[in-house]
Amino acid sequence: MKTQPEKIIIFDTTLRDGEQCPGATLNIDEKLVIAKQLARLGVDVIEAGFAFASPGDFEAVNKIAQIVGTENGPVICSLARAIQEDIKAAAQAIEPAAKKRIHTFIATSDIHLKYKLRKSRQEVLAIAEEMVAYAKSFTDDIEFSPEDAGRSDPEFLYEVLEKAIAAGATTVNIPDTVGYTTPTEFGALIKGIKENVPNIDQAIISVHGHNDLGLAVANFLEAVKNGARQLECTINGIGERAGNAALEELVMALHVRRQYFNPFLGRPAESEEPLTNIDTKQIYRTSRMVSNLTGMLVQPNKAIVGANAFAHESGIHQDGVLKNKLTYEIMDAQLIGLTENQIVLGKHSGRNAFRTRLRELGYEPTETELNKAFVRFKEVADKKKEITDWDLEAIVNDEIQQAPDLFKLELVQVSCGSNAKPTATVTLRNPEGDELIDAAIGTGPVDAVYKAINRVINVPNQLIEFSVQSVTAGIDAIGEVTIRLRYQDRVFSGHAANTDIIVASAQAYVNALNRLYAWLQNQPKQEEVTA
Ligand code: KIV
Ligand code: ZN
Repeated sequence: MKTQPEKIIIFDTTLRDGEQCPGATLNIDEKLVIAKQLARLGVDVIEAGFAFASPGDFEAVNKIAQIVGTENGPVICSLARAIQEDIKAAAQAIEPAAKKRIHTFIATSDIHLKYKLRKSRQEVLAIAEEMVAYAKSFTDDIEFSPEDAGRSDPEFLYEVLEKAIAAGATTVNIPDTVGYTTPTEFGALIKGIKENVPNIDQAIISVHGHNDLGLAVANFLEAVKNGARQLECTINGIGERAGNAALEELVMALHVRRQYFNPFLGRPAESEEPLTNIDTKQIYRTSRMVSNLTGMLVQPNKAIVGANAFAHESGIHQDGVLKNKLTYEIMDAQLIGLTENQIVLGKHSGRNAFRTRLRELGYEPTETELNKAFVRFKEVADKKKEITDWDLEAIVNDEIQQAPDLFKLELVQVSCGSNAKPTATVTLRNPEGDELIDAAIGTGPVDAVYKAINRVINVPNQLIEFSVQSVTAGIDAIGEVTIRLRYQDRVFSGHAANTDIIVASAQAYVNALNRLYAWLQNQPKQEEVTA
């Protein structure tokens, strides 16, 4: 018999549902770096992807299972539709992990049954039972999700969950797929499941929810009060449409308000024992990494990880905080790892010190990556006296993010100023190794650079987002540029960091165009589409 745990299980789906954000596509190396950081953060389960979706997805799940799925590491999970081929691919992909889970799902709402699946309730019931049993033939740890549970008939939901648990599901996940429910309704749904599914004590109740009405986190907290013990969430709340419940918000709500939540987990209110296994000091670093690698910016007023989350603007607030932090602060910035940046390295630091500090920050670059990053470090150190941890992370994330390395930016030169026409010259090397040079005039220096690059790469696209942020304070700070561009109905992002924001802008654009170019190369030719 499975009893509900005393701690809340954190199931991270940044690499699966999070990656479903338009433009958030990650390559395998980027996924691996994020998975390692998620393990450092202390998540209990990593949903590493949807193995059947593509060979690339399969490889990413498989690599994460091999490298991150160690004995003391998190459970590695792959999503699978309730279809044999999906489940088989998931099982093969997670095979190398010490702790592995298959997460299979089928929709249960009448809307989905009628319009999407075109199946009766009896058919769905039979498929759920059969596919959970099939998944169980590969591994013991099986999660089952009735998709669109939030809009499903509760009586039918109870029946499906009972059958899934009887067939071997060890976790039953209740998704509010379209972000439709309110906290009271979602709490009542979990309560109803606890009271009406006869074998519910043999499974852990999990929740998954989207943020279409901005209620995902509130819904989850209500679910915890009613018996949910696993929360499915993403870093920075990224995900399909309006995203998922944000990990950092859930974890910090459970931490800051633990006296309120403790009794719902059968503990004395004053218990200081953490409610999750998350190392909160890793939150800020993880948020930055996910934002950099996915190109999904964090809004400044975002709870916990936004740039303004710990800033006090009003004079009255500043005065209060100076007198006593408790006046306007409910948590310390140190708790999420937002401590003062240490000055760690300078231009006289050698490779060994560089490598050692990267290791301390959790990066294990290959020799080639280290060499490339070290060259960048020296370039930055020549211009910027003090290199902080944030600078180092910007440099390393930038190097990891370079792939696919199709077009290489070799040189960018601009001339601009008052009474001058902004003019840019760029030199790029194409995938065949040819040097291509072009120049353009624009409304400003970045516009001129982008026009010059367009003349070389020549893939029509629409720039839909351009943002510059500085990594640290100071006039010599590294600037990070994030851009998103649209090609037909797809979005591609690019990110780059440099002390020269024109160079960073050019590199971010080339990175995004490389992603678009790689995607175009993988598209079937017109004859294959119509065949
Ligand atoms: O939103 C959803 O319903 C999902 C399921 C696959 C769990 O992502
Ligand atoms: Zn989802």
